[in-house]
Amino acid sequence: MKVISTEYSQILASRLAGANGWDLVDVRFSRFPDGEQYLKAGQVGNEVLVVGSVTDSDAIIQLILLIDACQGADITLALPYMGYARQDKQFSAGEPLSARAIAGILSRGVSKVFVVNVHDPAVLRFFDIPAHSLSLAPEIGTFLKETGCKEPLILAPDAGAARFASAVAGVNGWDFDHLEKTRLSSEEVSMAPKNLCAEGRDVVIVDDIISTGGTLATASRLLYGQGARNVSAACVHGVFAGGAYSHLISSGVRQVYCSDTIERGCSLYSAAGIISDGITRC
Ligand code: R5P
Repeated sequence: MKVISTEYSQILASRLAGANGWDLVDVRFSRFPDGEQYLKAGQVGNEVLVVGSVTDSDAIIQLILLIDACQGADITLALPYMGYARQDKQFSAGEPLSARAIAGILSRGVSKVFVVNVHDPAVLRFFDIPAHSLSLAPEIGTFLKETGCKEPLILAPDAGAARFASAVAGVNGWDFDHLEKTRLSSEEVSMAPKNLCAEGRDVVIVDDIISTGGTLATASRLLYGQGARNVSAACVHGVFAGGAYSHLISSGVRQVYCSDTIERGCSLYSAAGIISDGITRC
């Protein structure tokens, strides 16, 4: 097996190569004068793992081109972050089902795909090939323990993320809960843990994605108001749209951590282990 990646997943791809003794294939990326993307890949051999997060339109095009450049080999695709997955329904007439569109395009010429913490694993049905969902929750639990966190309260920002919080907390036998939103007026919402009390606790809010950080900034402010000692945040995919990282820190969130599914300065845990395990298992 060889590993090759888009520009968006270079570090994760080299970790995968290093951890498994696979060769990392060199790729040169450039653009034509009109702005179109171009790439030239080295020899991929008979079996290749293509790694590329879908973070934006350029990343999608680059991934499509890279998969095409690998045609002729048996291709396994790792999608560390599958952007466009949250538009997973036609919420109203005339809308695209974006998750289906992206999954369809990325199935072409590929044998199987591994996706890390996709927002709703039901979208995997849109791939035309075997598609496997991987969760980074155990790695986040292990990482938090290594930071010296002692008996934190692990909180999901909503009921939908409660299973994720339970999986993070379960690694160390920590308490977990989810936040419940109460609308006080048309402008004001209150949020508090559904069953447990945040007073005097170190709280870590965990989620699959931090996008604008709006949910977490509000939650952190309210948790401090309820007497929390420390509020930190750990997610899988650090999208950090519109200055979200600074927004969170300036809102009092002490630490913000994410994985290398999107390569950031605060990517402190890796998806390489779960992708390697997934490939070995399937
Ligand atoms: C939503 O269901 C997701 O799990 C995240 O909670 C959401 O995408 C976070 O968005 P934001 O950071 O913009 O509040």
